[in-house]
Amino acid sequence: MTIKLTSRPAAGSRPIRAVTPAGLDSLSGSESKWAKTMRFSGEAGSFLVVPGEGGEPVSALLGIGASQKDAWRKAAVPFSFGALSGKLPAGQWHVEADDGAGDPTLRALAMRLGGYRFSRYKAAAGKDEADVEVFAGEEADLEEANRLADAVFLARDLINTPTNDLGPAELEAAARKLADEFGAEFSVITGDELLARNFPMIHAVGRASADAPRLIDFSCGRADAPKVTLVGKGVCFDTGGLDIKPSSSMLLMKKDMGGAANVLGLARLIMASRLDVRLRVLIPAVENSISASAFRPGDVLQSRKGKTVEIGNTDAEGRLVLADALTLADEETPEILIDMATLTGAARVALGPDMPPFYSSDAEFSASLAAASVAVADPVWQLPLYQPYAENLSSKIADINNVTSDGFAGSITAALFLEGFVERAKSWAHFDVYGWRPKASPIGPVGGEAQAIRAIYAVLQQRFGTVS
Ligand code: BES
Ligand code: MN
Ligand code: ZN
Repeated sequence: MTIKLTSRPAAGSRPIRAVTPAGLDSLSGSESKWAKTMRFSGEAGSFLVVPGEGGEPVSALLGIGASQKDAWRKAAVPFSFGALSGKLPAGQWHVEADDGAGDPTLRALAMRLGGYRFSRYKAAAGKDEADVEVFAGEEADLEEANRLADAVFLARDLINTPTNDLGPAELEAAARKLADEFGAEFSVITGDELLARNFPMIHAVGRASADAPRLIDFSCGRADAPKVTLVGKGVCFDTGGLDIKPSSSMLLMKKDMGGAANVLGLARLIMASRLDVRLRVLIPAVENSISASAFRPGDVLQSRKGKTVEIGNTDAEGRLVLADALTLADEETPEILIDMATLTGAARVALGPDMPPFYSSDAEFSASLAAASVAVADPVWQLPLYQPYAENLSSKIADINNVTSDGFAGSITAALFLEGFVERAKSWAHFDVYGWRPKASPIGPVGGEAQAIRAIYAVLQQRFGTVS
């Protein structure tokens, strides 16, 4: 069930009261009594409907937990509102909460995020839709909350869609649809045309699939605005290639286009809010498949940049397709170049599923991002582009190997590999995302998840503002 956010409190709408465990005492007589009877705790995520004399719901209590010292937990307090979705009885409601319940726009966002379901393949989809409308408060920016939710839902839907319905061709169609919605200029280079136009590594990784590899490219915004280019790893399925993954590691690999999905979500946000930038989106879309034409361990590939790359492992494919796309992006010297990719298992070992590492040598961008990350409760953490590890990518016969021999610092060395293809961009940042929520939470079920895009958007918004 999804909650509809309304811009005005409806006549006769009932209050949803945000309550801390300590705040239970200040409830009115009947609410306080009912809360005690029902042992409502006020813990984060606890919820109670308070009935009137005829049993009809007259108000609702939402627990937001005790005040938090930890910055991440504190930032996530408004996400308690995600628990309302699926629980609020039908009809009109309005939020009554103070600053202790966190940013009002984030509360509104949480109410929408919590109602997300991926129902494309479920026969009963949509039948249990209750009609619930909530006024989130005067201070909540409804349009912003809806833009954010739409961007997150786009990323989730794309990641959740299995590869039989979302190969490179369908990823192209999804990007085209988004571009068309905002009047962006769209082009794509497909199959052998990639060789003719000098994207040899995108071709090599994707050529074994029945669905041709391609490079998706769209641009939007006034031509002389600062250039912001987003590059997303669009590996629609990652078998590992000839260095095939064991089945347990392959099971979730429909999500290996999570970087592309995030970039499309972020692009939607940037275009919908009309940030004053010249946006360019590049997505190398491929399936890392196995056939007689697959690239092999030991092959040496030419890259767009001219560097030769020895293939130590065909499962390190993301960095190869990204390298050619980053090279193209870099050619026009963008102000900001951002890439997002489900690049390494090592990033998960280091920081777990919820906190994507990012890499950048732009100290100012990194500091703004770290601050925005906490402010909008979208966790990211900077890891170092530690140059001494770059030599572990050396090859005896080519300019570079796509993997290290010792296997240490896998996320860092992947980032260093990419850095070697970026020269001119004034500022470059790489995000090694997971793209998946492994445990259900108030703001979303298990499945595809947008990561880092709200934090990046906040930074871009501060820096560039909107078209007046
Ligand atoms: N798509 C995977 C990385 C991945 C695996 C992300 C699991 C999230 C969850 C990537 O293409 C890959 O296979 N990376 C290898 C690199 C290795 C061969 C150097 C990895 O991380 O094991
Ligand atoms: Mn791989
Ligand atoms: Zn991959």
